[in-house]
Amino acid sequence: MKLAERMSRIGVETAFEVLVRARGLEAQGRSIIHLEIGEPDFDTPKHIIEAAKKALDEGWTHYGPTQGQPELREAIASYICRTRGVRVGPEHVCVVPGGKPIIFFPILALVEPGDEVIYPNPGFPIYESMVNFVGAKPVPIPLVEERGFSFDLDMLRDKLSDKTKLLILNSPHNPTGGLIPADDIRTIADLVRDRDLIVLSDEIYSRIYYGEAPLSITSLPGMLEKTIILDGFSKTYAMTGWRMGYGVMPTWLVDAVNKLMVNSNSCTASFTQRAGIAALNGPQDDVRKMVTEFQRRRDAFCSALNQIPGFRCPVPSGAFYVFPNITGTGWQSKPLADALLDQAGVAALSGTAFGAYGEGYLRFSIANSLENLMAAADRIGQFLSKAQAARR
Ligand SMILES: Cc1ncc(COP(=O)(O)O)c(C=O)c1O
Repeated sequence: MKLAERMSRIGVETAFEVLVRARGLEAQGRSIIHLEIGEPDFDTPKHIIEAAKKALDEGWTHYGPTQGQPELREAIASYICRTRGVRVGPEHVCVVPGGKPIIFFPILALVEPGDEVIYPNPGFPIYESMVNFVGAKPVPIPLVEERGFSFDLDMLRDKLSDKTKLLILNSPHNPTGGLIPADDIRTIADLVRDRDLIVLSDEIYSRIYYGEAPLSITSLPGMLEKTIILDGFSKTYAMTGWRMGYGVMPTWLVDAVNKLMVNSNSCTASFTQRAGIAALNGPQDDVRKMVTEFQRRRDAFCSALNQIPGFRCPVPSGAFYVFPNITGTGWQSKPLADALLDQAGVAALSGTAFGAYGEGYLRFSIANSLENLMAAADRIGQFLSKAQAARR
Protein backbone atom coordinates (compact mmCIF):
# COMPACT_ATOMS: atom_id res chain seq x y z
CA MET A 1 0.00 0.00 0.00
CA LYS A 2 1.34 3.42 -0.93
CA LEU A 3 1.22 6.29 1.56
CA ALA A 4 -0.70 9.39 0.59
CA GLU A 5 1.36 11.79 -1.53
CA ARG A 6 1.27 14.45 1.17
CA MET A 7 3.38 12.23 3.43
CA SER A 8 6.33 12.79 1.12
CA ARG A 9 6.20 16.47 2.05
CA ILE A 10 6.14 16.26 5.84
CA GLY A 11 9.42 16.66 7.74
CA VAL A 12 10.80 15.39 11.03
CA GLU A 13 12.68 16.77 14.00
CA THR A 14 16.35 15.77 13.93
CA ALA A 15 16.78 16.20 17.70
CA PHE A 16 14.73 13.05 18.31
CA GLU A 17 16.72 11.08 15.72
CA VAL A 18 20.06 12.14 17.19
CA LEU A 19 18.78 11.22 20.66
CA VAL A 20 18.01 7.68 19.44
CA ARG A 21 21.47 7.35 17.86
CA ALA A 22 23.13 8.68 21.01
CA ARG A 23 21.20 6.22 23.19
CA GLY A 24 22.23 3.41 20.82
CA LEU A 25 25.90 4.32 21.33
CA GLU A 26 25.40 4.44 25.10
CA ALA A 27 23.86 0.97 24.98
CA GLN A 28 27.18 -0.16 23.45
CA GLY A 29 28.97 1.23 26.50
CA ARG A 30 30.07 4.60 25.06
CA SER A 31 30.03 7.74 27.18
CA ILE A 32 27.85 10.43 25.56
CA ILE A 33 27.19 13.96 26.76
CA HIS A 34 23.68 14.88 25.68
CA LEU A 35 23.44 18.40 24.31
CA GLU A 36 20.97 17.62 21.56
CA ILE A 37 17.49 17.69 23.00
CA GLY A 38 15.52 20.85 23.76
CA GLU A 39 14.12 20.19 27.19
CA PRO A 40 15.04 21.61 30.58
CA ASP A 41 17.01 19.14 32.70
CA PHE A 42 15.09 20.30 35.79
CA ASP A 43 12.22 18.47 37.45
CA THR A 44 8.73 19.89 37.18
CA PRO A 45 8.25 22.05 40.34
CA LYS A 46 6.85 20.06 43.30
CA HIS A 47 3.64 22.06 43.76
CA ILE A 48 2.68 21.38 40.12
CA ILE A 49 3.21 17.64 40.55
CA GLU A 50 1.18 17.74 43.79
CA ALA A 51 -1.66 19.51 41.97
CA ALA A 52 -1.72 16.76 39.31
CA LYS A 53 -1.75 14.00 41.96
CA LYS A 54 -4.57 15.73 43.79
CA ALA A 55 -6.49 16.10 40.53
CA LEU A 56 -6.17 12.37 39.87
CA ASP A 57 -7.41 11.60 43.38
CA GLU A 58 -10.32 13.98 42.87
CA GLY A 59 -11.34 12.20 39.67
CA TRP A 60 -10.15 14.58 36.96
CA THR A 61 -9.82 11.57 34.72
CA HIS A 62 -12.63 12.18 32.24
CA TYR A 63 -13.10 14.06 28.99
CA GLY A 64 -13.28 17.82 29.34
CA PRO A 65 -14.21 20.73 27.08
CA THR A 66 -12.39 20.63 23.73
CA GLN A 67 -11.16 24.21 24.09
CA GLY A 68 -9.77 23.58 27.57
CA GLN A 69 -11.16 23.88 31.09
CA PRO A 70 -12.66 27.32 31.77
CA GLU A 71 -10.55 27.86 34.94
CA LEU A 72 -7.34 27.11 33.05
CA ARG A 73 -8.34 29.35 30.14
CA GLU A 74 -9.09 32.11 32.69
CA ALA A 75 -5.64 31.61 34.25
CA ILE A 76 -3.95 31.66 30.83
CA ALA A 77 -5.83 34.78 29.71
CA SER A 78 -4.88 36.64 32.85
CA TYR A 79 -1.24 35.44 32.54
CA ILE A 80 -1.11 36.70 28.94
CA CYS A 81 -2.63 40.06 29.97
CA ARG A 82 0.00 40.39 32.75
CA THR A 83 3.01 39.33 30.72
CA ARG A 84 2.17 40.86 27.31
CA GLY A 85 0.26 43.94 28.41
CA VAL A 86 -2.75 43.09 26.22
CA ARG A 87 -6.45 42.50 26.89
CA VAL A 88 -7.59 38.98 26.12
CA GLY A 89 -10.19 36.73 27.71
CA PRO A 90 -10.68 32.97 28.10
CA GLU A 91 -12.64 32.99 24.83
CA HIS A 92 -9.36 33.67 22.99
CA VAL A 93 -7.53 30.69 24.48
CA CYS A 94 -7.24 27.14 23.07
CA VAL A 95 -5.57 24.59 25.36
CA VAL A 96 -3.87 21.83 23.37
CA PRO A 97 -1.43 18.95 24.01
CA GLY A 98 1.86 20.92 23.77
CA GLY A 99 2.94 24.00 21.87
CA LYS A 100 3.31 22.10 18.58
CA PRO A 101 -0.43 21.80 17.82
CA ILE A 102 -0.51 25.61 17.67
CA ILE A 103 1.75 25.28 14.64
CA PHE A 104 -0.11 22.30 13.17
CA PHE A 105 -3.72 23.44 13.61
CA PRO A 106 -3.50 27.10 12.55
CA ILE A 107 -1.45 26.20 9.47
CA LEU A 108 -4.00 23.51 8.53
CA ALA A 109 -6.83 25.94 9.18
CA LEU A 110 -5.42 28.98 7.39
CA VAL A 111 -2.90 28.14 4.71
CA GLU A 112 -3.84 26.89 1.24
CA PRO A 113 -1.74 25.54 -1.63
CA GLY A 114 -0.08 28.49 -3.34
CA ASP A 115 -0.11 30.70 -0.23
CA GLU A 116 3.25 31.91 1.01
CA VAL A 117 4.51 31.55 4.57
CA ILE A 118 7.50 33.54 5.81
CA TYR A 119 9.52 32.04 8.65
CA PRO A 120 13.00 32.26 10.16
CA ASN A 121 15.76 30.03 8.82
CA PRO A 122 17.47 28.52 10.73
CA GLY A 123 14.28 27.88 12.66
CA PHE A 124 12.17 25.29 14.44
CA PRO A 125 11.88 22.58 11.74
CA ILE A 126 8.15 22.02 12.23
CA TYR A 127 7.34 25.38 10.59
CA GLU A 128 8.84 24.37 7.24
CA SER A 129 7.52 20.82 7.54
CA MET A 130 3.94 22.00 7.99
CA VAL A 131 4.15 24.61 5.24
CA ASN A 132 5.29 21.91 2.81
CA PHE A 133 2.70 19.46 4.12
CA VAL A 134 -0.20 21.76 3.23
CA GLY A 135 1.31 22.46 -0.20
CA ALA A 136 2.08 26.12 0.47
CA LYS A 137 5.22 27.95 -0.59
CA PRO A 138 7.92 28.16 2.10
CA VAL A 139 9.60 31.57 2.16
CA PRO A 140 12.56 31.27 4.53
CA ILE A 141 14.28 34.42 5.74
CA PRO A 142 17.90 33.95 6.78
CA LEU A 143 18.81 35.19 10.24
CA VAL A 144 21.82 37.44 10.60
CA GLU A 145 24.44 36.51 13.19
CA GLU A 146 25.72 40.10 13.38
CA ARG A 147 22.18 41.26 14.26
CA GLY A 148 21.91 38.83 17.19
CA PHE A 149 20.22 36.40 14.81
CA SER A 150 17.34 38.74 14.03
CA PHE A 151 15.89 39.12 10.52
CA ASP A 152 17.38 41.23 7.79
CA LEU A 153 14.42 43.63 7.79
CA ASP A 154 15.02 44.80 4.21
CA MET A 155 14.80 41.21 3.07
CA LEU A 156 11.60 40.73 5.06
CA ARG A 157 10.15 43.81 3.34
CA ASP A 158 11.10 42.36 -0.06
CA LYS A 159 9.67 38.92 0.66
CA LEU A 160 6.25 40.14 1.81
CA SER A 161 3.79 39.76 -1.06
CA ASP A 162 0.07 39.64 -1.74
CA LYS A 163 0.34 35.89 -1.35
CA THR A 164 1.85 36.03 2.15
CA LYS A 165 -0.73 34.40 4.38
CA LEU A 166 1.34 33.82 7.49
CA LEU A 167 4.45 35.33 9.06
CA ILE A 168 6.08 33.23 11.76
CA LEU A 169 8.15 34.92 14.46
CA ASN A 170 10.00 33.12 17.24
CA SER A 171 11.59 35.12 20.02
CA PRO A 172 13.50 33.99 22.06
CA HIS A 173 14.56 31.76 19.26
CA ASN A 174 15.30 28.10 18.73
CA PRO A 175 18.02 27.24 17.63
CA THR A 176 20.07 30.45 17.95
CA GLY A 177 19.02 31.77 21.38
CA GLY A 178 18.51 35.12 19.65
CA LEU A 179 15.87 37.59 20.72
CA ILE A 180 14.23 39.97 18.25
CA PRO A 181 15.01 43.49 19.55
CA ALA A 182 11.99 45.65 20.43
CA ASP A 183 12.80 48.09 17.60
CA ASP A 184 12.76 45.25 15.08
CA ILE A 185 9.40 44.04 16.42
CA ARG A 186 8.04 47.58 15.95
CA THR A 187 9.35 47.71 12.38
CA ILE A 188 7.88 44.28 11.63
CA ALA A 189 4.50 45.39 13.01
CA ASP A 190 4.63 48.50 10.78
CA LEU A 191 5.40 46.31 7.77
CA VAL A 192 2.47 43.92 8.29
CA ARG A 193 -0.19 45.92 10.15
CA ASP A 194 -2.17 46.81 7.02
CA ARG A 195 -1.60 43.55 5.21
CA ASP A 196 -4.10 40.73 4.94
CA LEU A 197 -2.02 38.18 6.83
CA ILE A 198 -1.74 36.50 10.20
CA VAL A 199 1.30 36.47 12.47
CA LEU A 200 2.14 33.30 14.36
CA SER A 201 4.25 34.50 17.28
CA ASP A 202 5.98 31.50 18.82
CA GLU A 203 6.67 32.67 22.37
CA ILE A 204 7.33 29.27 23.94
CA TYR A 205 10.64 30.60 25.41
CA SER A 206 9.07 33.88 26.59
CA ARG A 207 10.22 33.45 30.20
CA ILE A 208 13.74 32.31 29.40
CA TYR A 209 15.84 35.40 28.70
CA TYR A 210 18.94 36.94 30.24
CA GLY A 211 18.63 40.68 29.74
CA GLU A 212 15.99 42.74 28.02
CA ALA A 213 12.60 40.99 28.09
CA PRO A 214 11.25 39.93 24.70
CA LEU A 215 8.53 42.17 23.30
CA SER A 216 5.39 40.42 22.06
CA ILE A 217 4.18 41.85 18.76
CA THR A 218 0.63 41.58 20.17
CA SER A 219 1.33 44.56 22.45
CA LEU A 220 1.62 46.92 19.45
CA PRO A 221 -1.39 48.76 18.04
CA GLY A 222 -3.54 46.72 15.69
CA MET A 223 -1.53 43.52 16.09
CA LEU A 224 -3.51 41.53 18.67
CA GLU A 225 -6.36 41.13 16.15
CA LYS A 226 -4.06 39.47 13.63
CA THR A 227 -1.71 37.44 15.80
CA ILE A 228 -1.71 33.95 17.28
CA ILE A 229 0.46 33.62 20.38
CA LEU A 230 1.94 30.15 20.83
CA ASP A 231 3.02 29.44 24.41
CA GLY A 232 2.90 26.55 26.82
CA PHE A 233 4.20 24.79 29.89
CA SER A 234 6.96 22.63 28.37
CA LYS A 235 9.90 24.97 28.69
CA THR A 236 8.88 27.50 31.37
CA TYR A 237 7.85 24.89 33.94
CA ALA A 238 10.00 21.97 32.74
CA MET A 239 6.88 20.06 31.68
CA THR A 240 7.84 18.73 28.23
CA GLY A 241 6.43 15.26 28.93
CA TRP A 242 3.09 16.53 30.21
CA ARG A 243 2.07 17.70 26.74
CA MET A 244 0.27 20.92 27.46
CA GLY A 245 0.40 24.18 25.56
CA TYR A 246 -1.95 26.83 24.27
CA GLY A 247 -2.71 29.38 21.64
CA VAL A 248 -4.19 32.82 22.16
CA MET A 249 -5.93 34.08 19.03
CA PRO A 250 -8.89 35.93 17.53
CA THR A 251 -12.19 34.13 18.26
CA TRP A 252 -12.90 33.29 14.59
CA LEU A 253 -9.74 31.21 14.60
CA VAL A 254 -10.60 29.60 17.94
CA ASP A 255 -13.58 27.92 16.27
CA ALA A 256 -11.36 26.41 13.56
CA VAL A 257 -8.76 25.18 16.06
CA ASN A 258 -11.53 23.64 18.19
CA LYS A 259 -12.77 21.70 15.18
CA LEU A 260 -9.29 20.33 14.49
CA MET A 261 -8.91 19.50 18.20
CA VAL A 262 -12.19 17.61 18.37
CA ASN A 263 -11.22 15.66 15.27
CA SER A 264 -7.81 14.71 16.62
CA ASN A 265 -7.63 14.79 20.44
CA SER A 266 -11.12 15.53 21.80
CA CYS A 267 -9.45 17.49 24.62
CA THR A 268 -6.17 17.93 26.48
CA ALA A 269 -5.74 15.55 29.49
CA SER A 270 -7.96 16.79 32.32
CA PHE A 271 -5.70 16.25 35.36
CA THR A 272 -2.74 17.93 33.64
CA GLN A 273 -4.89 21.01 33.10
CA ARG A 274 -5.46 21.23 36.88
CA ALA A 275 -1.67 21.20 37.25
CA GLY A 276 -1.47 23.94 34.62
CA ILE A 277 -3.61 26.19 36.82
CA ALA A 278 -1.22 25.56 39.73
CA ALA A 279 1.74 26.36 37.46
CA LEU A 280 0.40 29.74 36.34
CA ASN A 281 -1.15 30.87 39.62
CA GLY A 282 1.42 29.39 42.03
CA PRO A 283 4.92 30.48 43.07
CA GLN A 284 7.33 31.28 40.23
CA ASP A 285 10.60 30.86 42.16
CA ASP A 286 11.52 27.65 40.33
CA VAL A 287 11.30 29.43 36.96
CA ARG A 288 13.63 32.15 38.22
CA LYS A 289 16.08 29.59 39.64
CA MET A 290 16.12 27.68 36.36
CA VAL A 291 16.82 30.81 34.31
CA THR A 292 19.62 31.87 36.68
CA GLU A 293 21.22 28.45 36.32
CA PHE A 294 20.90 28.55 32.51
CA GLN A 295 22.61 31.94 32.53
CA ARG A 296 25.54 30.61 34.57
CA ARG A 297 25.94 27.70 32.15
CA ARG A 298 25.53 29.91 29.09
CA ASP A 299 28.33 32.23 30.22
CA ALA A 300 30.74 29.42 31.07
CA PHE A 301 29.97 27.27 28.03
CA CYS A 302 30.15 30.13 25.51
CA SER A 303 33.48 31.23 26.87
CA ALA A 304 34.80 27.63 26.76
CA LEU A 305 33.61 27.25 23.15
CA ASN A 306 35.20 30.56 22.23
CA GLN A 307 38.58 29.10 23.29
CA ILE A 308 38.31 26.39 20.64
CA PRO A 309 40.16 27.39 17.46
CA GLY A 310 37.67 27.92 14.63
CA PHE A 311 34.65 28.40 16.91
CA ARG A 312 32.96 31.79 17.28
CA CYS A 313 30.15 31.63 19.80
CA PRO A 314 27.83 34.63 20.23
CA VAL A 315 26.33 34.86 23.72
CA PRO A 316 22.59 34.14 23.34
CA SER A 317 19.97 36.45 24.87
CA GLY A 318 17.34 33.81 25.53
CA ALA A 319 16.18 30.18 25.36
CA PHE A 320 18.68 27.49 26.42
CA TYR A 321 20.69 26.96 23.26
CA VAL A 322 24.03 28.21 22.05
CA PHE A 323 24.70 28.38 18.33
CA PRO A 324 28.40 28.77 17.58
CA ASN A 325 29.68 29.59 14.12
CA ILE A 326 32.10 26.77 13.22
CA THR A 327 33.16 27.87 9.74
CA GLY A 328 36.68 28.60 11.06
CA THR A 329 37.22 24.89 11.72
CA GLY A 330 37.00 24.06 8.02
CA TRP A 331 34.23 21.52 8.74
CA GLN A 332 30.70 21.49 7.36
CA SER A 333 28.01 21.40 10.06
CA LYS A 334 26.52 17.93 9.54
CA PRO A 335 29.83 16.02 9.22
CA LEU A 336 31.10 17.81 12.33
CA ALA A 337 27.94 17.03 14.35
CA ASP A 338 28.20 13.37 13.25
CA ALA A 339 31.91 13.16 14.08
CA LEU A 340 31.40 14.77 17.49
CA LEU A 341 28.77 12.16 18.34
CA ASP A 342 30.61 9.14 16.92
CA GLN A 343 34.16 10.03 17.86
CA ALA A 344 34.05 12.55 20.71
CA GLY A 345 30.89 11.41 22.55
CA VAL A 346 29.15 14.79 22.32
CA ALA A 347 25.60 14.83 20.97
CA ALA A 348 24.84 18.16 19.28
CA LEU A 349 22.76 19.15 16.28
CA SER A 350 23.94 20.42 12.93
CA GLY A 351 22.72 23.94 12.19
CA THR A 352 21.26 22.49 8.99
CA ALA A 353 18.77 20.47 11.09
CA PHE A 354 17.03 23.86 11.30
CA GLY A 355 17.19 24.75 7.61
CA ALA A 356 19.72 25.42 4.88
CA TYR A 357 20.85 28.73 6.39
CA GLY A 358 22.00 26.87 9.49
CA GLU A 359 25.09 25.73 7.54
CA GLY A 360 28.22 26.85 9.37
CA TYR A 361 26.70 26.42 12.84
CA LEU A 362 26.06 23.80 15.51
CA ARG A 363 23.32 23.87 18.14
CA PHE A 364 24.11 22.85 21.69
CA SER A 365 21.39 22.67 24.32
CA ILE A 366 22.68 23.86 27.71
CA ALA A 367 20.12 21.72 29.50
CA ASN A 368 22.88 19.67 31.10
CA SER A 369 25.08 20.23 34.16
CA LEU A 370 27.88 22.80 34.10
CA GLU A 371 30.32 19.96 34.70
CA ASN A 372 29.08 18.06 31.65
CA LEU A 373 29.09 21.21 29.52
CA MET A 374 32.72 21.87 30.43
CA ALA A 375 33.60 18.24 29.72
CA ALA A 376 31.86 18.52 26.35
CA ALA A 377 33.84 21.65 25.42
CA ASP A 378 36.99 19.77 26.40
CA ARG A 379 36.09 16.76 24.25
CA ILE A 380 35.31 18.99 21.26
CA GLY A 381 38.59 20.89 21.61
CA GLN A 382 40.59 17.67 21.85
CA PHE A 383 38.77 16.05 18.95
CA LEU A 384 39.37 19.03 16.67
CA SER A 385 43.04 19.37 17.55
CA LYS A 386 43.60 15.64 16.87
CA ALA A 387 41.67 15.89 13.59
CA GLN A 388 43.74 18.92 12.64
CA ALA A 389 46.99 17.11 13.42
CA ALA A 390 45.88 14.07 11.38
CA ARG A 391 45.19 16.30 8.37
CA ARG A 392 48.70 17.72 8.39
C1 LIG B 1 10.41 27.16 18.93
C2 LIG B 1 9.57 26.06 19.46
N1 LIG B 1 8.25 26.10 19.30
C3 LIG B 1 7.46 25.12 19.76
C4 LIG B 1 7.98 24.02 20.41
C5 LIG B 1 7.05 22.92 20.84
O1 LIG B 1 6.90 22.81 22.20
P1 LIG B 1 6.09 21.59 22.84
O2 LIG B 1 7.10 20.59 23.30
O3 LIG B 1 5.33 22.20 23.98
O4 LIG B 1 5.18 21.02 21.81
C6 LIG B 1 9.37 23.93 20.61
C7 LIG B 1 9.96 22.75 21.25
O5 LIG B 1 11.11 22.45 21.15
C8 LIG B 1 10.18 24.98 20.13
O6 LIG B 1 11.51 24.95 20.27
